[in-house]
Amino acid sequence: MEKHIKDAPSFRLDGKVAVVTGGGSGIGRAIALALAHAGAWVAIVDRDELKSVSVAREIVKIGQQSFPFTADVSKEDEVERAIAAVGNEFGGLDILVNSAGLAIREPSTELSREDWEKVMSVNVTGTFLMCRHAARAILAGKKGGSIINIASIMGFSGGGLYPNISYQTSKGAVVNMTRALAVEWAKEGIRVNAIAPTWVNTPFIDGLRGKPDLLKRIEDMTPMGRVAEPEEMAGAAVFLASNAASMVTGHILAVDGGFLAQ
Ligand SMILES: NC(=O)c1ccc[n+]([C@@H]2O[C@H](COP(=O)([O-])OP(=O)(O)OC[C@H]3O[C@@H](n4cnc5c(N)ncnc54)[C@H](O)[C@@H]3O)[C@@H](O)[C@H]2O)c1
Repeated sequence: MEKHIKDAPSFRLDGKVAVVTGGGSGIGRAIALALAHAGAWVAIVDRDELKSVSVAREIVKIGQQSFPFTADVSKEDEVERAIAAVGNEFGGLDILVNSAGLAIREPSTELSREDWEKVMSVNVTGTFLMCRHAARAILAGKKGGSIINIASIMGFSGGGLYPNISYQTSKGAVVNMTRALAVEWAKEGIRVNAIAPTWVNTPFIDGLRGKPDLLKRIEDMTPMGRVAEPEEMAGAAVFLASNAASMVTGHILAVDGGFLAQ
């Protein structure tokens, strides 16, 4: 179990083993690198093999251990194999970051059922499958651990700039999944929290970039007047992963330039 803080809080993660889904790109990559800088060994799970290989190499250059694992988080057998690989390579698991996710932005009257299910299967089911298989591994280690889900401000907001029903529904589910798992696993020493980012400058928003008017409206809707950079999500993740957050569970930490404060 994590010890409560008696002196200055530590944000270091030396000796910890982390797995980051969606770690091959964007927010997942930035968080994976930050966890490594804080001292953790980090496995990269992504369905894009080339990207996960490249990020694993970046982590090794930082001086920490890493390996890429190609898996689709919506497939339970692949999730099980990914978690087993982390156990075999690193001998345990302390930290899970669920960053794998996607959006299909369509009007609700047009969105196909197939696309609705695609978003749900990755953002909701994939997050749940990773959480439960990681939790089994963390419980086996008997030292407790930290799970961090990447939700979204769209888990709290109906949006309004463009239709995105499957995504908004899925992130609302991630928010309450985070709370429910936090309560269920609190006595067993697994903390479960989430980060709710605003729009972040990653390939995820490529589809919005061709629309300068839309980007301008996003900036106007954000008190800080800009989208975020992926590295700006990393501090929150290191905090939630670390012993400095030893009493923090079931919390959704908005990293949103003030969007949800409005
Ligand atoms: N970028 C934003 O504006 C923004 C805002 C709020 C929340 N988020 C959330 O942050 C998370 C990361 O987004 P990002 O901006 O880094 O996007 P990204 O597209 O840069 O990265 C997502 C990564 O997830 C991987 N992935 C997708 N589906 C997968 C699957 N089924 N199995 C395994 N890997 C899969 C992709 O290959 C990719 O490497 C997502 O959950 C997204 O919903 C993003």
